Amino acid sequence: MAKVIFAITLTLVTFTLIKCANTKSNQMTKEAPVNAKDQDSSIDVSDLDTQAIMNACNESFRIEMSYLESLNTSGSFIDETDKTPKCFLRCVLENTGILSEDGRQFNPARAASVFAGERNGKPMDDLNDMTGLCAADRQETCPCDRAYKFLRCLMSMEIEKYETAQ
Ligand SMILES: *[C@@H]1O[C@H](CO)[C@@H](O)[C@H](O)[C@H]1NC(C)=O
Ligand SMILES: *[C@@H]1O[C@H](CO)[C@@H](O)[C@H](O)[C@H]1NC(C)=O
Repeated sequence: MAKVIFAITLTLVTFTLIKCANTKSNQMTKEAPVNAKDQDSSIDVSDLDTQAIMNACNESFRIEMSYLESLNTSGSFIDETDKTPKCFLRCVLENTGILSEDGRQFNPARAASVFAGERNGKPMDDLNDMTGLCAADRQETCPCDRAYKFLRCLMSMEIEKYETAQ
């Protein structure tokens, strides 16, 4: 009996490892401690070099520009089965301090500050609500998939609210 349980456990562990393969994080900069309860919408992110972070993450997790464009304009990746571009997003979210190093805890206020801006000529004034909802919604266990689904949720909400004619 013990053997059977051990075998099942081993199978589950192996399966989890395979499922979450390629989720190695690569933390480059140490950002301020992540605090999910922080609701301050005016977190200063001006010293954040997102381009440098994206370039560095692209070294470890190659992503085609078309994937980012598709996420930004349609709300999702062209191909959702490919794990590497999802791990690119995890890498970027971690290094911008939006996602904790273990890939579990989001900082919605920081996400709202990092993604602040305009869409379709309209200032996005409710990003805090959107990032809060998208962080609360997460059930994925694989960090790369969690990162992707968070951004898919956020981009879809932005597009729905700001890109559709009203
Ligand atoms: C990532 O690097 C590859 C190879 O240099 C490049 O073709 C691609 O455009 C880069 N992706 C981004 C998002 O910059
Ligand atoms: C995302 O899409 C919007 C609307 O199509 C566009 O204005 C913006 O420049 C895009 N941003 C990026 C990083 O591609």
